Amino acid sequence: MKKLVSTLLSLVVIAGFGTAAALAAGDNEHHKAPEEQKWSFSGPFGHYDKGQLQRGLKVYVEVCAACHSLDRIAFRNFLDLGYSEDQIKSLAAEYDVLGGPNEEGEMFERPAILADYFPNPFPNVEAAAYANNGAAPPDFSLLAKARGATRGFPQFVFDIFTMYAEGGPDYINALLTGYQDEPPHGVEITEGTYYNPYFLDGLSLAMAPPLSDEIVTYDDGSPETVDQYSKDVSAFMMWAAEPKLESRKSLGFKVIVFLLIFAGLLYLSKKSVWSRVEH
Ligand code: HEC
Repeated sequence: MKKLVSTLLSLVVIAGFGTAAALAAGDNEHHKAPEEQKWSFSGPFGHYDKGQLQRGLKVYVEVCAACHSLDRIAFRNFLDLGYSEDQIKSLAAEYDVLGGPNEEGEMFERPAILADYFPNPFPNVEAAAYANNGAAPPDFSLLAKARGATRGFPQFVFDIFTMYAEGGPDYINALLTGYQDEPPHGVEITEGTYYNPYFLDGLSLAMAPPLSDEIVTYDDGSPETVDQYSKDVSAFMMWAAEPKLESRKSLGFKVIVFLLIFAGLLYLSKKSVWSRVEH
């Protein structure tokens, strides 16, 4: 009886926390929760779709890289997306980075090489904020893991069993496709910000809608739409945040299989050891 009461009590506490978290996230009737998308990398056997990652890189390079840095990714990391070394070398050579010092001790600009990290569009955070109405565009390296849909109770309990871990890309995709021209009647937004009911920290953000149809050319025949760009760049950002996702998942599966076999063996040895004891 005591156990039942304490279990019930803890359930009530969990539900309370969950509702509080959900209320805090959706503190406003206009706020919307991101829709769940189908990603090739979700689930226990998920893997990245290299074609999609290549398209995502293209969207990043041609659109987002004007404002957002990708500090933790070096050009050589793009080889994982299925490019040849020459392709990445020529991409790198389009960027200038600070090299040196030369024999006179001076630094100089030189074209980037495979070992260089992706150059930042701004020299420092202050410059980035100054150019963007006071809000510095966040770095993309870990964004897909750091920002994500907050899922209140009871959803977050089910998420454990469905192995939902795509809150980041779902959120980014919802944000990129969720801009509305006009805020709903009676909603005031700060000047210089753009209405977006999916934004986690409010109802408007300092980033203008970055995507529009046909802004990037795809050479694999994929649709050149905001929807497609948004999915591709979200998948690319997930890769940037977790390049080793595939090996983590495949190792995890092997470990579970091993543990199951091991549990069976333990059970059999327990039976054999105790068979000599009279019951
Ligand atoms: C003209 C500059 C600019 C471009 C281009 C741009 N962004 Fe942004 N982005 C910003 C700024 C500024 C912020 C910070 C907004 C804020 O905090 O109000 C931001 C924030 C974000 C955020 C974080 C939202 C959050 O929850 O904090 C994401 C995700 C994002 N941008 C994705 C993208 C993607 C993807 C692209 C390319 C398709 C892109 N951005 C292109 C300026 C830009």
